[in-house]
Amino acid sequence: MWWRDAVVYQIYPRSFQDSDGDGVGDLRGITQRLDHLVYLGVDAFWLSPIYPSPLADFGYDVSDYTGVDPQLGTLADFDMLVSEAHDRGLRVLLDLIPCHTSVEHPWFREHPDWYIWSPVDGPPNNWVSAFGGPAWSRDERSGRWYLHSFYPEQPDLDWRNPEVVEAMQGVVRFWLERGADGFRLDAIDKLIKDAELRDDPPATGEFPLPLHEEAAGLERVYSGNRPEVVEALAAIRAAAGDAFLVGEVFLPTSEYPRYLEALDLVFAFELLFSPWNAERLRAAIAPAAELERVAWVMSNHDFGRLASRVGRGNVRAAALLLLTLPSAAFVYQGDEIGLENGPGADPPYDRAGRDPMRHPMQWDASPNGGFTTGEPWLPAVDPVERNVEAQRTDPDSLLNFYRWLIERRRILGEGFRMLDGAPGVVSYERGEHLVEIHTAGEGMIRRLGE
Ligand code: NOJ
Repeated sequence: MWWRDAVVYQIYPRSFQDSDGDGVGDLRGITQRLDHLVYLGVDAFWLSPIYPSPLADFGYDVSDYTGVDPQLGTLADFDMLVSEAHDRGLRVLLDLIPCHTSVEHPWFREHPDWYIWSPVDGPPNNWVSAFGGPAWSRDERSGRWYLHSFYPEQPDLDWRNPEVVEAMQGVVRFWLERGADGFRLDAIDKLIKDAELRDDPPATGEFPLPLHEEAAGLERVYSGNRPEVVEALAAIRAAAGDAFLVGEVFLPTSEYPRYLEALDLVFAFELLFSPWNAERLRAAIAPAAELERVAWVMSNHDFGRLASRVGRGNVRAAALLLLTLPSAAFVYQGDEIGLENGPGADPPYDRAGRDPMRHPMQWDASPNGGFTTGEPWLPAVDPVERNVEAQRTDPDSLLNFYRWLIERRRILGEGFRMLDGAPGVVSYERGEHLVEIHTAGEGMIRRLGE
């Protein structure tokens, strides 16, 4: 149960370190930079997808589940990364994308019955894709309509077909045998849909997480989050054995228990999306903390970077919060140096507007921040103002604050109790300590009774 209180560092491989000068980060580059993770003191890292992909959704459209994208390296590079990571006591987590493949995955042509097709000539219901627009598209070759919960380039697999379950179990075993220590499961609330493909009813209440406006108009009770998801997840668990599984469940906290039957942790998304406001933060934290098995997270490759969301003046308080809550915490690469959203690319790579959160890591003050010797796929944002090298030598830097917090977290002690807190303050007892997060500035932590 190494993951119970672990700190996991999220690496976005294309933007971490380029080793061959093509402007795109790669696995060898990650291996070269492992000492940064050791310096921070994290327990594990999660790699956003490394598999071959036509990049319609930057790796979340997989065309081969048991390969490495040539731009990122080879299976031998992966083996080397795992071995170097394990030598340093770091665990390696992969991204498993079981709900959909790329439209270019050979399965889509070789096994059309592994996917979900409309029984009529057109969309059979009102389901909406997470990026907006109908969740059904016409396959030009066959003339039939297929389901895609995300981009049209990402057809949904049919988890009611036992062959799909077996194929994905094989993928899980493949990577575990190669040394992976676990998986982050992508979009797992969409794993199983209503067998009768019924219309989603109109939305009734407020949904606490951001949705595309078209999706927000519906109560998405048939297009996902079905009770049968428990059995599908049990099949993944059966293949994974004791390996660590954390789920991306894009739902309110109250829906998490069913997912925790098979998973070790689920991301606490209400915290990620809470405005930086004490009352709202308290309301997001309290129910998730009660579950005892959540992965606290405050940013990732899909949403605004932490420094941009909470404001530059609040990054220390946010780090204190993230790293002193009970249960595991995930840190997105670059947040430890205060990286902010960048301008993205023009024209954008990602149609859903997520380039700004994916700019390269800044290792030093050189124009490309030490990320590449070539032309970076996305430019560095502000390497002179923010980089790892400078922050390592400054004892008061944000980087060293993260490091200090991660070290301290080991001795916080068990137990968590939310306190009422003055206006503008989130406060709680964590083990032997009192933590206070002032939303208008800093935070503080001290031993109880001191
Ligand atoms: C969640 C991933 O984090 C995101 O980047 C992706 O677009 C969707 N799932 C679909 O796979």
